Amino acid sequence: MTKNIAEIITERRSIKRVDEAPIDRAVINDILEKAAFAPFHSKVEPWHVAVLSKEAEKRRFVNAIVNSMERMQGEPLTRERREQIKDGNERKIVAPPYTLIVTTDIIGSGKKDFEAIAATSAFIQNIQLLAWEAGLGVLWRTNNFIFDSEVVAELGLDGQQIVGCLQITQFNEIPDAKPRRPLSEWVKDLD
Ligand SMILES: Cc1cc2nc3c(=O)[nH]c(=O)nc-3n(C[C@H](O)[C@H](O)[C@H](O)COP(=O)(O)O)c2cc1C
Repeated sequence: MTKNIAEIITERRSIKRVDEAPIDRAVINDILEKAAFAPFHSKVEPWHVAVLSKEAEKRRFVNAIVNSMERMQGEPLTRERREQIKDGNERKIVAPPYTLIVTTDIIGSGKKDFEAIAATSAFIQNIQLLAWEAGLGVLWRTNNFIFDSEVVAELGLDGQQIVGCLQITQFNEIPDAKPRRPLSEWVKDLD
């Protein structure tokens, strides 16, 4: 039986555990096409998506992350630390069948850039919900390297801001829901 939207919203979970089983690219494309019906406040939709499915693409991303962490540290990483960072990111980026880098156009105007990030976040949530409906799990990550313009340049995504790195995977176990605050804690009337 198909689920209604309230069920999909409340039953969706972030899925951390990676399953390496392949996923048909047509399923991903279908999710992206539908997710693009997210609202946006500009003439063109502000989001872009780099779909990483081949090992070489994913490793290129991992290398860019390692280089970024080296820059953040301000001195060369030891070989051991480099391997450690590489291994950790390979588990997160190379192992899942798909890693999506979702970016948005940034033009240097506060209001327009705010709207672009907001619209792209709505687009990402559509991806999460559509993936859940298709039986797939997503984890939306925002690590420090997303603010490193050199990472974006290294990946050929100049002029864009990464809004999320999404791992997409099949899953067997559904994590418990993170409890949400009761409405009374965060809703108020203005009178
Ligand atoms: C903007 C944003 C950034 C996030 N970044 C990370 C992250 O870097 N690492 C991570 O493990 N989860 C990340 N998450 C996932 C959250 O941890 C997760 O959504 C939250 O714990 C609630 O769980 P749920 O998605 O299963 O409801 C992020 C979520 C959002 C919306």
